[in-house]
Amino acid sequence: MRVALFGSGWIADFHARGVAEHPRGELVAAANWRPESLAAFAERHAIPRTTTDWRELAADPSIDAVVIATPNALHAPQAVACLRAGKHVLVEKPMARTLAECEQMLAAAEESGARLMVAHCWRFHTDVRRLRERVAGGELGEIVKTRGYGVHAGWGPSGWFTDPELAGGGALLDMGVHAIDTARFLLGDPSPQTVCARIGTRFGDYAVDDDGLLLIGWSNGTASTVESGWWHPHKGGLEAETELFGTGGYARIWDFTEEPEGYEHCAQPMYSAQIAEFIDAVGEGRQPRPSGDDGAVVMDVVERAYRSAGLR
Ligand SMILES: NC(=O)c1ccc[n+]([C@@H]2O[C@H](COP(=O)([O-])OP(=O)(O)OC[C@H]3O[C@@H](n4cnc5c(N)ncnc54)[C@H](O)[C@@H]3O)[C@@H](O)[C@H]2O)c1
Repeated sequence: MRVALFGSGWIADFHARGVAEHPRGELVAAANWRPESLAAFAERHAIPRTTTDWRELAADPSIDAVVIATPNALHAPQAVACLRAGKHVLVEKPMARTLAECEQMLAAAEESGARLMVAHCWRFHTDVRRLRERVAGGELGEIVKTRGYGVHAGWGPSGWFTDPELAGGGALLDMGVHAIDTARFLLGDPSPQTVCARIGTRFGDYAVDDDGLLLIGWSNGTASTVESGWWHPHKGGLEAETELFGTGGYARIWDFTEEPEGYEHCAQPMYSAQIAEFIDAVGEGRQPRPSGDDGAVVMDVVERAYRSAGLR
């Protein structure tokens, strides 16, 4: 699979290494608006072709697939253009800024038959997958509730992440989406029935949210609380965690509250497994998961949460 990468920032390096590691992946081109970071990125990963105009790559029939690792505002326009041109797309989370943008992306995939996958990376963490198997095997009985969060304690991002136009939202779109998708994955991908939330800007000086508390009622009867945040004074464990309370017992993904020496929470194997699912599924002619539909479910929860909090 001849892959192009859009964006040359922090997460793009993980994707580039993932493609390079895959026996059928070939990183053929990269696009970014800033030529300096693009040139450095291309050198780090030996990418032969670069451009500051992503549309040039979207229109190039020699490219099979695109990984989109740009600010959230670009996810929908870039994905729609690539999908319409028949390219398979792996787009970073959040899938887009709004559910309406997600629907445009789903329609473009449907029309061309190209595959759309959303990078909800925690599904590829071995500890998360192990817990999902325990839940599916019935070890915890019926899951009554889950408690999860995606929170940065003592820090938060800056730059485009806090620009409402480019990001589409704050900590809920940045961190909360991970916790929503992880809870849903652990439960076997039920549908959200009810969502209520309190969301605000409490810790920093910007026009996006940095504190959210959601209560989601799922189609299987489970209730999930999800917290999102930046600059929180405390997080109670690693930066992403989900606890499960079942009629047969309790479990959490990571049963330690401090990162042990040398432990990497967001490490390359998770991102490489994610790229492998993308390349393998496309090669085998099946829909990669998490799909565009899975990404849109998360965005549906996000939008309902913002509405419930009076923010949309
Ligand atoms: N799954 C994960 O673990 C994870 C982690 C980090 C980021 N992400 C997601 O990946 C995407 C990129 O995040 P990142 O941390 O790599 O960000 P980043 O700021 O490090 O990189 C963003 C890239 O987009 C470019 N860019 C910035 N502003 C732009 C603009 N206005 N127009 C065009 N290009 C612009 C930058 O030059 C850079 O190459 C986001 O959607 C983010 O939510 C996912």
